[in-house]
Amino acid sequence: QTDQYILGIETSCDETAAAIIKNGREIVANVVASQIESHKRFGGVVPEIASRHHVEQLTIVFEEAMKQSKLGFEDISAIAVTEGPGLVGALLTGINAAKALAFSQGIPLIGVHHIAGHIYANRLITELEFPLLALVVSGGHTELVYMKDHASFEVIGETLDDAAGEAYDKVARTLGLPYPGGPHIDRLAHEGESNIDLPRAWLGEGSFDFSFSGLKSAVINTLHNAKQKGIEFEAKDVAASFQASVIDVLVTKTAQAVDKYEVKQLLLAGGVAANRGLRTALEERFSSRENLQLCIPPLSLCTDNAAMIAAAGSVLFEKGIRSDLALNANPGLEL
Ligand code: KG4
Ligand code: ZN
Repeated sequence: QTDQYILGIETSCDETAAAIIKNGREIVANVVASQIESHKRFGGVVPEIASRHHVEQLTIVFEEAMKQSKLGFEDISAIAVTEGPGLVGALLTGINAAKALAFSQGIPLIGVHHIAGHIYANRLITELEFPLLALVVSGGHTELVYMKDHASFEVIGETLDDAAGEAYDKVARTLGLPYPGGPHIDRLAHEGESNIDLPRAWLGEGSFDFSFSGLKSAVINTLHNAKQKGIEFEAKDVAASFQASVIDVLVTKTAQAVDKYEVKQLLLAGGVAANRGLRTALEERFSSRENLQLCIPPLSLCTDNAAMIAAAGSVLFEKGIRSDLALNANPGLEL
């Protein structure tokens, strides 16, 4: 039996990425070109700039991945590409590149959901055991996903407004910190004290949904009111108080879902998984639990990359799932 090699391509937001995964779990090549520097001065990702960068970087990133792998086209079993959700123009650059390669080289094409990719990043660390629960926290998503088998995703809770990372970035902006603000808040939070009373959106008994826009507004209002009274809060205490609220809600709801669904594994996924406070809180709460394995991937696999897309694509490939050349970008694709 020959080895399976999946080429992954990811261009849904502001990273241009290509990777090759062997037999579903082993990283053979993993290349990411970040555009953060280009978007920084605008305080967020500018879609048109993102697309242009992807077009420039795609060939370079793809060729580097092929070079690192020492493989040829004849070795590639399938090309997995992010079909959504994401920025439509950004997604199209990756999809068109994948289609061109698939057509010209006669290689099967597989469209992958970006969040399925984030979850499958965990399979590059450990074999998945079902049923499992994944806490997906990124710049665009905050979701609790229940999986009873491979490629079976049930969203049991999601954000009703802002994603966790979005809230981090907006609060950071209010504090005058550069984009993306998550890492800056995280750093400040460790120097400060959680001494400002901020709300937690529980959204009713038994709900696994999230809401972070009220928290963001509460931070802005609290700072505004304090200023009018001549009080100045320290940025580090604002960061610590905000982070405490986010982590409290994320960890509490995750714990309730773990109990309800009696899962064997708890996976962390998405860019906010880089948050030190969240990683520590999850470890404290879950790492010594019997019959539950907590998996937290390294930072490089939590933020956007193509290895995770290839890992998810590998499972779809084995299930016989293929996309045809009519594959299109789907910015609002459901999991
Ligand atoms: O998954 P990701 O790379 O892109 C999306 O698919 O959205 O996540 C990016 C998000 C940004 O909002 C960024 O501020 C946040 O992840 N982030 C963090 C940390 N590192 C990145 N948020 C909190 N603490 C961090 N250490
Ligand atoms: Zn992402």
